[in-house]
Amino acid sequence: DIEMLYAAALGYFLGSIPFGLLLTKAAGLGDVRSIGSGNIGATNVLRTGNKGLAAATLLLDLFKGFLPVFLAWQWFPDWVGLTAVFAILGHCFPVWLGFKGGKGVATLAGVCFGIDWKVGLVYAVLWLGLLSITRISSLSGMAAAVAAPLAAWVFGFQNIALYLAVIAALILWLHRTNIGRLITGTEPKVGSGA
Ligand code: G3P
Repeated sequence: DIEMLYAAALGYFLGSIPFGLLLTKAAGLGDVRSIGSGNIGATNVLRTGNKGLAAATLLLDLFKGFLPVFLAWQWFPDWVGLTAVFAILGHCFPVWLGFKGGKGVATLAGVCFGIDWKVGLVYAVLWLGLLSITRISSLSGMAAAVAAPLAAWVFGFQNIALYLAVIAALILWLHRTNIGRLITGTEPKVGSGA
C-alpha cells in the first residue's frame, strides 16, 4: 500500500525538523546539545535561560506533531496511527542529526491533539498539571505519554491506541537516564536553574 509509505514519510520529515537546535543556534546560544541533559527539547532549551526560546521550541515541536496527523486524517485516514509513530521517530531519530534527536514529549502532545481534541486535552492536562505540581519535566511527560494510548482507547480510537502504546514504550526508553535520576532523587526541577 503506497499510502503507507506516504504516511510514514510525511510524519518522519515533519517530525525530524530539530526546532530546539535551530532556534538556539539562530539565537547565537551555541549548540543546545552541549548543555544540561544534551537533549534538543524545550526543557533543555530552557536551561539556556531563554524562556521565550523554550516556549517557541515547545510550540513548534508540538505543531510538527499535530500537522502530519491532521493531514493524515484527510489524505490517508487508514494510516493516522502510522503517521503518528513516524512523526515521533522523526523527532527522536532525525537523519539530519545522526539519528540523535529529542525524547518526544512535546511532539506527542501535538500528535494527540491531531488525533482528537479530547485525547489532546487529557495529555495536556496531565502533562502540565503534573509539571506544575512536581516541576519535573521528564516525569510529567512520561505520565502523559503512558496515558495517551489509554485515552485514545477510551474515546474510541482503538486502532490508533495501539500505535500510541508503541510510542509510549519508546518515550519511556528514551527517558531511561531520566528514570535513573528520578530513582536516585537527582533529576533536576524546571526553574531550579539546574
Ligand atoms: O521532553 C524531554 C523531557 O521529558 C526531559 O528533558 O532535558 O530534562 O532530559 P531533559
